Amino acid sequence: MMQQTPPMGWNSWNTFGEEINEELVLTVADAMVSEGYLEKGYNYLVIDDCWSLHERDSEGRLQADPAKFPHGMKYLADYIHKKGLKFGMYSCSGTQTCAGYPSSFDHEYIDAETFASWEVDFLKYDYCYRPQTVPGRILFHRMGNALQNCGREILFSACSWGADETAKWIKETGASMWRSTGDIMDNWESIKKLTYQQLDILPYAGAGCFNDMDMLVVGMHGKGNVGLGGCSSLQYRTHFSIWALMGSPLMIGSDIRSMTEEDRETLQNEELIAINQDPACRQIARVSGFGGREQEQLILFRPLCDGDLAIGMFNLSDQERYLSFVIDEMGIPVSSGKTLLLHEVWSKKDALVKNETWGERIEAFGCRVFRAKLVSK
Ligand code: GLA
Repeated sequence: MMQQTPPMGWNSWNTFGEEINEELVLTVADAMVSEGYLEKGYNYLVIDDCWSLHERDSEGRLQADPAKFPHGMKYLADYIHKKGLKFGMYSCSGTQTCAGYPSSFDHEYIDAETFASWEVDFLKYDYCYRPQTVPGRILFHRMGNALQNCGREILFSACSWGADETAKWIKETGASMWRSTGDIMDNWESIKKLTYQQLDILPYAGAGCFNDMDMLVVGMHGKGNVGLGGCSSLQYRTHFSIWALMGSPLMIGSDIRSMTEEDRETLQNEELIAINQDPACRQIARVSGFGGREQEQLILFRPLCDGDLAIGMFNLSDQERYLSFVIDEMGIPVSSGKTLLLHEVWSKKDALVKNETWGERIEAFGCRVFRAKLVSK
């Protein structure tokens, strides 16, 4: 089935790494519902690497580590499904997973069957320890075919970090999302780096197969597996705004069982989620002159299904900056007699664009995201 909008959910890797177990998964499933995440659209609960034993069973099947998951994976799937959530798991296209566990190379079909028998709904598929004898795209074709023929609908989430020109072939393989960047770390430098890397490959994103900028670090504050430094709540808000506006899947990577109110509100901003999930799924556009990397600022916009425009102004630098745009650059010339009524999704303030231009001072690391309506002058 074609994936119409970016997948949303939670993934264990950023915070928990190898420290995953049944109790964690059950309590995260509970929190996804009780803390309001499911209601906002976060419906996939994904267990990343390190869930299996180091050996396959006598029939060559992957087996869950009973010390971590005493009741096995089907038990988890049942619990997760009862909560109204979907269950995601992880494997890899090489001879080992990135953390050194058994992987699906030359076991693609039996592994897809195993995942289907556990009622898995989502498979993240990594790219470590890839045998040099088989091209990467064929490895992903293998698993794509295996999933297509396993008797269950399983969303295929490719994770080859943009290597080997993934953008050019990943859509052939049946993937619904693909990791377009390297691994995120919980610090501002990493967020900026992934943002800049994304700029040149924005045209590849869209309905059917989404550019995945990696799991969100919102709310980690330096704790956990990739918690290298941490960010301020403002930086998390800007990070979330960029991922949402760029149309990335929104996979939470923090411990949602213990979040600050502010960070929870960031992840649950309904207006931004609506922009991310906009059914028209139009390509993200850049206002020219805002180069990103060099200037540490960015202005992006995206036409939405009801004729509104989503507009993001991002100050990625560590100083206050004045950012501005001319609406002509968004396809609204003076001759149209139209202007924009701006509604900012964080402050909830409204303002009318006068004289075809909008500009404001934005604090260091800050952003403004508007849902803008075309109105007659
Ligand atoms: C790779 C992926 C990460 C994570 C780890 C697990 O680095 O890019 O997202 O899945 O492997 O080992």
